[in-house]
Amino acid sequence: MYDKVKIKRMQVAGDILSAILKELQEAAVVGTNLLELEYLANELCSNYKVKPAFKGYEGYPAALCLGVNDVVNHGIPYDYELEDGDIIGIDMGIKYQNVYSDCAYTVMVGNVSEETKKFVETTKQAVMNAIKFAKPGNTVGDLGYAMQSTVEAQGYSVVKEMVGHGIGYELHEDPYIPGYGEKGEGEVLEKGQTIAIEAIINQGSPKILISKEDGWTSFTKDGMLSALFEHTVVVDDSPKVLTKW
Ligand code: MF3
Ligand code: CO
Repeated sequence: MYDKVKIKRMQVAGDILSAILKELQEAAVVGTNLLELEYLANELCSNYKVKPAFKGYEGYPAALCLGVNDVVNHGIPYDYELEDGDIIGIDMGIKYQNVYSDCAYTVMVGNVSEETKKFVETTKQAVMNAIKFAKPGNTVGDLGYAMQSTVEAQGYSVVKEMVGHGIGYELHEDPYIPGYGEKGEGEVLEKGQTIAIEAIINQGSPKILISKEDGWTSFTKDGMLSALFEHTVVVDDSPKVLTKW
């Protein structure tokens, strides 16, 4: 079903989230403390009269998931100042008038190496390549295949434990949208379906570890970098991206 009201609201939510994320990206420079980013995210939510969607979700304690360097995702903001050459994944969701929007971006802080640049750019490209397939009649596997083949061609790997998802009246709805898959496999996409397409990519091995201390923060097992990008998208003959980087 094409839910016009939902999609209209999700477009507004997407615009607000994109504006917030833009400010966060600009604030993510050498010397910025992760706690300042979290503070800013909350302040911007109250300015825009939206709710941070992650806070309280299954007990998650913050508005932002921040992943510096080898942190894969679900990194709880802590007392750390960004350093030259760091990369930081900023993942945020909001709730606006009963609908959700979800978006993530990896920022390169100061001067990063060419190798790191290529890695981050490839992860971003993986999402853009998957979005091209978010058309009625294509399958979830088509999106996963697009992401997986984009990153594996460069020697990177897809994290299997975390996936994209349907989104709308809930933050996480069916179906799962893995960053890996086979062409033509999985659920068939329908016009008007709203989905969050996420690429969560490791530079080395796909293996991850979850912090025993907080139960949330995930790290690459080999200590190499991890990057993530995510957009909220409406499945359509010409796929509509509701969030902006
Ligand atoms: N964008 C991520 C996801 O959709 C972040 C969720 S964090 C959580 O899975 F705290 F809400 F779980
Ligand atoms: Co998400």
